[in-house]
Amino acid sequence: MKITVVGTGYVGLVTGTCFAETGNEVTCVDIDANKVKKLSAGQITIYEPGLEKLFERNLKEERLSFTTSLEEGIKDAEVIFLALPTPPGEDGAADLSFVLYVADQLGKLLTDYKVIVDKSTVPVGTAEKVIAAIAKNCKTPFDVVSNPEFLREGVAVDDFMKPDRVVIGTTSERARKVMGELYAPFVRQGNPVLFMDEKSAELTKYAANSFLATKISFMNEIAILCERLGADVDMVRRGIGSDDRIGKRFLFPGIGYGGSCFPKDVQALVKSSEDAQYDFKILNAVMDVNEKQKLFLLPKIKAYFKNNLKGKHFALWGLAFKPNTDDIREAPALYIIDALLAEGATVSVFDPEAMGNVKQIVGDKIIYAEHQYTCLDNADALIIATEWSVFRTPDFHKISATLKNQAIFDGRNLFEVQRMKELGYHYESVGRIPAIS
Ligand SMILES: NC(=O)c1ccc[n+]([C@@H]2O[C@H](COP(=O)([O-])OP(=O)(O)OC[C@H]3O[C@@H](n4cnc5c(N)ncnc54)[C@H](O)[C@@H]3O)[C@@H](O)[C@H]2O)c1
Repeated sequence: MKITVVGTGYVGLVTGTCFAETGNEVTCVDIDANKVKKLSAGQITIYEPGLEKLFERNLKEERLSFTTSLEEGIKDAEVIFLALPTPPGEDGAADLSFVLYVADQLGKLLTDYKVIVDKSTVPVGTAEKVIAAIAKNCKTPFDVVSNPEFLREGVAVDDFMKPDRVVIGTTSERARKVMGELYAPFVRQGNPVLFMDEKSAELTKYAANSFLATKISFMNEIAILCERLGADVDMVRRGIGSDDRIGKRFLFPGIGYGGSCFPKDVQALVKSSEDAQYDFKILNAVMDVNEKQKLFLLPKIKAYFKNNLKGKHFALWGLAFKPNTDDIREAPALYIIDALLAEGATVSVFDPEAMGNVKQIVGDKIIYAEHQYTCLDNADALIIATEWSVFRTPDFHKISATLKNQAIFDGRNLFEVQRMKELGYHYESVGRIPAIS
């Protein structure tokens, strides 16, 4: 099938590459000329495990191409995916201007029947708005389908190639047939393709992300309670996770969720609820808990340094909002950096993939270390903000030899409390019982 993907970011590039991998001819469109130039030259623009190999293969075999021209990009397409940004607007609602701008342009360009697919995360009612924006300038028949994306950055290729489910919102038989054919190679093991109406598909995506964010904030509050009551969150987590009704995943406490999806999607669903005159109480609490959780370690750090961080130097491991990505949108590490700088401290950072992105935003206010161990030079303490595998079994002798104080503040519970005590560290994590002396 001939496919166009408009918007070649995390979702668009993965979507385009994976559709090309199953034999489709894919053109990716982006307004960022620099991005298109790099991708056309075979240079991948995001870090996503497993993507580069597929990208190179499909580019070489000419199933994948890139352009800045929407007109050229959609010329022969049967299906046009919109993988455009939907950032939060000032009032928290999803900003649909990127999606509706392209819809408006499409209306002027369509000359034969095409299926236009909302892959961006968009509020209930967006399919109707996209239809209206296209129809304004267009007499050609077309269908608009809502096909939310559930991939997770870091395992996006696997998620796309073997999705738990595919959700397709359409009331058009013609579009349903096209979408069913397109996704058939991805669900050969029997995972469901769930056809539903457009509004239910749109809400499914928000409900999924909001539920997962709720699980995280719930566990973070349990962790806070554990510290106050003398219980151990690792034990509680195992105790509840072995119950099938609860499940083991998304029960790890930490310093809050970040990324380009959970924060904005929870906020957008709250706004949609308000617009529907409904006060979604749980989600307001989820956001509130998460805001506070990002700085969960700060009081612990301040207490250790007797409430005076002025002139102290911190090593910070982990900048990406989660491991295996270079995405730093809403990353808790950025909030910690800001808070430390505001207290008069200085910070050295290390991340295996996200340093370049942080440099663009934070600039020379912090030091970028070339290695996780040189990051510790002159540091008074180590803070861990992302659970990259490479931080899980570090060389503690190197850490001890370099850090000025034997203090580690771990926002991701990477190490055993008792072991850290035996190694002589002042070790603080999230929701666990202090080690016995
Ligand atoms: N990132 C994720 O993990 C993820 C997962 C599921 C769903 N989503 C949703 O998918 C959508 C896209 O997210 P993303 O993370 O890929 O965003 P992104 O910012 O990484 O990519 C968006 C791309 O669209 C391009 N763009 C903007 N305006 C354009 C235009 N007029 N024409 C062509 N290209 C244009 C930008 O240059 C950028 O490359 C969002 O709605 C997001 O909520 C994201």
